[in-house]
Amino acid sequence: AVSRKHSIATMGADGIGPEVINAGVQVLKKLAELDGSFTLDFKNYDWSSETYRKTGKYIPDGGLEELQKHDAILFGAVGAPDVPDHISLWGLRLAICQPFQQYANVRPTKIFRGTQSPLRNAAHSDLDWVIVRENSEGEYAGQGGRSHRGQPWETATEVSIFSRHGVERIMRFAFQMAQKRPRKFLTVVTKSNAQRNGMVLWDEVAVDVAKDFPDVKWDKMLVDAMTCRMVLDPKSLDTIVATNLHADILSDLAAALAGSIGIAPTSNLDPTRKNPSMFEPIHGSAFDITGKGVANPVGTFWTAVEMLKWLSEEEAAKRMMDAVETVTERGVMTKDLGGTAGTQEVTDAVCAELEKAF
Ligand code: NAI
Ligand code: MG
Repeated sequence: AVSRKHSIATMGADGIGPEVINAGVQVLKKLAELDGSFTLDFKNYDWSSETYRKTGKYIPDGGLEELQKHDAILFGAVGAPDVPDHISLWGLRLAICQPFQQYANVRPTKIFRGTQSPLRNAAHSDLDWVIVRENSEGEYAGQGGRSHRGQPWETATEVSIFSRHGVERIMRFAFQMAQKRPRKFLTVVTKSNAQRNGMVLWDEVAVDVAKDFPDVKWDKMLVDAMTCRMVLDPKSLDTIVATNLHADILSDLAAALAGSIGIAPTSNLDPTRKNPSMFEPIHGSAFDITGKGVANPVGTFWTAVEMLKWLSEEEAAKRMMDAVETVTERGVMTKDLGGTAGTQEVTDAVCAELEKAF
């Protein structure tokens, strides 16, 4: 008998978003049907840049209250060529993340079986990281302003916000994440040589929180030196915590080092579980390949796996991840990973693999 029910809001939004979310839903439906011990109820929301063009808003009135009813949100990507990126990002993605206090952004990276890292000497086991990104304040708090618009003396400020509350909760989350992983090792990324206020608070909080985790080893890296370490000594890293901006950049580097931006997932978590968490591939709306049927759905599949884990469907999550990796190992891959398959072909191959697994 079916005991567990999960209500999932889906939102493909723009560009390849709807294509990869459809692929993800197809695989999740197949998985739930084969497993039989849980159900997934999907409700689709068609909010996108099209909604914005028509109504001047991405999220209709009452929209957040609607979303709040679900257990999780599966999100594609937002961004369109004719809408400035800061409007689309703040209009939809951040408009969900911020009020829902999804303060922990979690980005795992690894090299899939059957794929190759651009790092010539990296063995698969050398790169297995989780980047924890502060997702509610820092450099993306939206503080600042512009004066004297259009004048040669125009000025703009972008103010970073670091609160003890905000830094402490992400640090604690990161130490817990490191503690759960076999190596129990955390690298705290900082820039407290040049940024002598917010980043110094960040370092001090790290020292304080570390006292509560005596079994976790940790070290500290300046963000610029961190890029070198990621490339030159990937196996010296495991769990990583960084600010909103720093982790945004480092996680794209991580995805590229693992093989492609098309495979990497991200979870926007409210660890208090008061609000639904949101799961999305890290890539954007990729207008250059929209509608061609070639978008890599693997980033969304791995995203769906992370969502299942958050919903405590650990076993189903593991089965799905195995099926996805078996498919890449067999060479059924999209062009970004060096293959020739289309989105649908990869999706069907994963479904077929799941059939075999049950
Ligand atoms: P992008 O991730 O959309 O594309 C970068 C490159 O990677 C492109 O060449 C694209 O074809 C390729 N790519 C991305 N995902 C792929 C996939 N699944 N399979 C195969 N190839 C893939 O980043 P870009 O071009 O900087 O941004 C495009 C738009 O997306 C912008 O409007 C941007 O603001 C938005 N964006 C939205 C994000 C979100 O909703 N979370 C995240 C990043 C960008
Ligand atoms: Mg990014």
